[in-house]
Amino acid sequence: MAGSSATHESKGDAHDLAHDHAPTTANGTKSASGRPRKPLIILAVIVAAFVVLGLALGLGLGLGLKHKHSSEGAASANPTANTTNLQNVATPKSADAFLSPEIVDEPPTTRTYNFTVEERTGSPDGVQKRMLVVNGQYPGPTIEANVGDRIVVNVTNKVSNSTSIHWHGLYQRGTNFYDGSMAITQCGIPTGESMVYNFTFDGFVGSTWWHAHAGTQYTDGITGALIIHAKNESVPIYDGDIVLQLADLYHGFSPDLLNLYHTPGGIDGTPGNEPVPDGGTINGVGQYGSSNTSFFNVTLESNKTYRLRLVNTGSFVAMEFSVDNHTLEVIEADGTAVEPFAVSSLSIAVAQRYSVLLRTNQTAGAYWFRSGLDQDAFTYDNPGVQTEVRGIIRYGVDNGTIPDVALLDSPPSLPDGAPGDLDTTDLVPVDGGPAPDSTFSVYLTISMQYASGPDYLSRFLSFINSTSWEPLLKTSSLFAHLGNHTADGSATLADSQLVTTVNEVHVVDMIIDNLDDGDHPFHLHGHKFWIMQSGVGRYQGESVDNEHPMQRDTLVIPAYTHVLLRFVGDNPGFWAFHCHIQWHMAAGLLFQLNMLPSESSKFNIPQYMVDQCQRA
Ligand code: C2O
Repeated sequence: MAGSSATHESKGDAHDLAHDHAPTTANGTKSASGRPRKPLIILAVIVAAFVVLGLALGLGLGLGLKHKHSSEGAASANPTANTTNLQNVATPKSADAFLSPEIVDEPPTTRTYNFTVEERTGSPDGVQKRMLVVNGQYPGPTIEANVGDRIVVNVTNKVSNSTSIHWHGLYQRGTNFYDGSMAITQCGIPTGESMVYNFTFDGFVGSTWWHAHAGTQYTDGITGALIIHAKNESVPIYDGDIVLQLADLYHGFSPDLLNLYHTPGGIDGTPGNEPVPDGGTINGVGQYGSSNTSFFNVTLESNKTYRLRLVNTGSFVAMEFSVDNHTLEVIEADGTAVEPFAVSSLSIAVAQRYSVLLRTNQTAGAYWFRSGLDQDAFTYDNPGVQTEVRGIIRYGVDNGTIPDVALLDSPPSLPDGAPGDLDTTDLVPVDGGPAPDSTFSVYLTISMQYASGPDYLSRFLSFINSTSWEPLLKTSSLFAHLGNHTADGSATLADSQLVTTVNEVHVVDMIIDNLDDGDHPFHLHGHKFWIMQSGVGRYQGESVDNEHPMQRDTLVIPAYTHVLLRFVGDNPGFWAFHCHIQWHMAAGLLFQLNMLPSESSKFNIPQYMVDQCQRA
């Protein structure tokens, strides 16, 4: 299997050339028929050189290799990317899901990581697919540290497009340029180059994750858990600590899916219909169809309390999490400790995190746990979709014990009186109190439409107010601002950038009307916001509830509703506020705050990061 996928995605010139060497199934007509001959010859030489090199290195790159064809449009095709023999993606061991909360007693330290981003072939649910991963594994390495620690992450980019790594939920006070948002706080790390992220954990405590923040790259696998311990975290004590990364999964490569999403015809004939996932994974392991029998599984001890850190590292749909025969107690959401709240299941939107306590106090045995895809979000029928991913917990029985397979499709019901599903409005922060009064407000509307005409490239796009974000090229909002001051210190950027500049410290209200018929999980970089008010329809000046407003960094704004969010704006830099659904962000659903520009202009940004813009 691995050998046959050697020249994986083959498109454009390089594909045509490779095809000349290795005739396979019908390729159809060449799309770039009018191309002059000379570049083809040059490319042929380059490809031939790689073939020779590949053979010399013993990579097994032969001439009879099968080419997998994609019939979709022209996603970026890098000639060199088609000539490497892709290695397989590794799946971390189940034991790697166990965290080490005891490190909280260690003195402050610097933790160093090397991340190599590369393309590989993976089969998380048994179906082989093209992936982009860190250090050859999916999910990528878990970073675990204490608040106050410094991390140094040297990221080397071996994929054919620029990349960047974002540390979701961190505040990055004074280090906005390490936020990792491509075209906003940095240019991408060019192919073949490295960049070092170097910052301290300056306040965020709890469960979060890191992911690529360049196009839709994380959809293809560049994700990992990020756990920050602190001695004063206001959560109950527990005996064991486990991270569970729940994600939707696409058998297609995300740039191809995105092209289909953008096209006038849409992916199924309806513009704006998001690609429906094919299934999902739990810590990189999923099932597809009846034949797959791999399950993420852990063996626990009886009569203990485990903290399960649930992270939705997916791209589109919410995941409904439950454990057969057990109730759960929610204790943390997006790094905010909450009053323990019993539930039988909970829905986790893309990019949200929850910690729940699981007590191993039922009959010794093996139990299924479930991560169900929110099918309400599916816009068309995807035959064969695996709508629920399963894993196994067991205690008091041998490693390897499997729960009753008859229960797979008919989960046992909990006894009468068991708690219900989580209602996020029930979450009460442990250390919460009233938010300060606001001194500044921003009003935003969300809409999505198929905008025709040359200005819109005839693509399905998302709008905040009337702007559809497009990434700046060869610069970032932050870098452009540094050399481009206006009288008030704000930045002048292209029309595709909707930026609100806040020149002094303010308590900022963001009022958002979701005029779209879809739910949008919105995330604010660099801050947690208080959820002051929410309700159906447009915001009409409703009074806020300021007793114990919940604070988090990602919330769902349901279709045709509004929210009023508040945060303390004292953190200099450019901060994105965007829908975390990867298709929507790529279609432009992103807004930027330019906070305290007179402070960010004093940032000490490594010169090589600015220089990388020329090659990004
Ligand atoms: Cu989790 Cu802008 O990202």
